Amino acid sequence: MEKKKILLIQTSLNAESKTALLVEEAKKELDKKEFETEILDLRNYSLQFCKGTGIETYNEDMQTIFRKVQEAQAYIFAFPVYNFSFSGVAKNFIDIFSYAMDSKVCALMQNSGGERSFLLGIAELSMILKMHNNIDVINEVVHSSQGDFDGTVLVQEKVKEKLVAMADAMEKKLL
Ligand SMILES: Cc1cc2nc3c(=O)[nH]c(=O)nc-3n(C[C@H](O)[C@H](O)[C@H](O)COP(=O)(O)O)c2cc1C
Repeated sequence: MEKKKILLIQTSLNAESKTALLVEEAKKELDKKEFETEILDLRNYSLQFCKGTGIETYNEDMQTIFRKVQEAQAYIFAFPVYNFSFSGVAKNFIDIFSYAMDSKVCALMQNSGGERSFLLGIAELSMILKMHNNIDVINEVVHSSQGDFDGTVLVQEKVKEKLVAMADAMEKKLL
């Protein structure tokens, strides 16, 4: 049987992004299962803002992203917390690409600076994805904050446990 493809979408544009580190850890967990995985790191693409027109009106990079989103059966959508919610880059991604995610499975992950100012983004985003695109949002969410990392290494055991729970939930949905 062909392996299901999970696209891990990393939306922080910071060169020293912790969200990106979290995504790498999630990939390691998912790679222990029978999935094909790929990280889509938005830092590597020339991004454009949503202008409400068809995907063919955007640049080559945006069309490449669209194809990758369309080909995948499930997603990990990871974003940095900005002003208690998801970042504008993350919302722009959803505005342009979420219709290619229609009725598929998605898990959410976020990284914040502080330890307590984060729930709004996950709640809002899961509502948007469910209501607008009928996306099956997995209840196991992963949250990390800057203190969970020692330099570039994720050291917080509770976050690691959440990654395992998220990968298990993904497996139950897809396999
Ligand atoms: C514009 C802006 C707003 C932010 N707002 C919050 C916030 O409301 N709560 C919080 O905990 N951290 C906030 N932060 C800190 C980021 O969440 C933190 O830098 C985090 O590491 C970002 O993820 P990244 O390293 O993957 O880019 C904010 C950062 C920026 C740049």
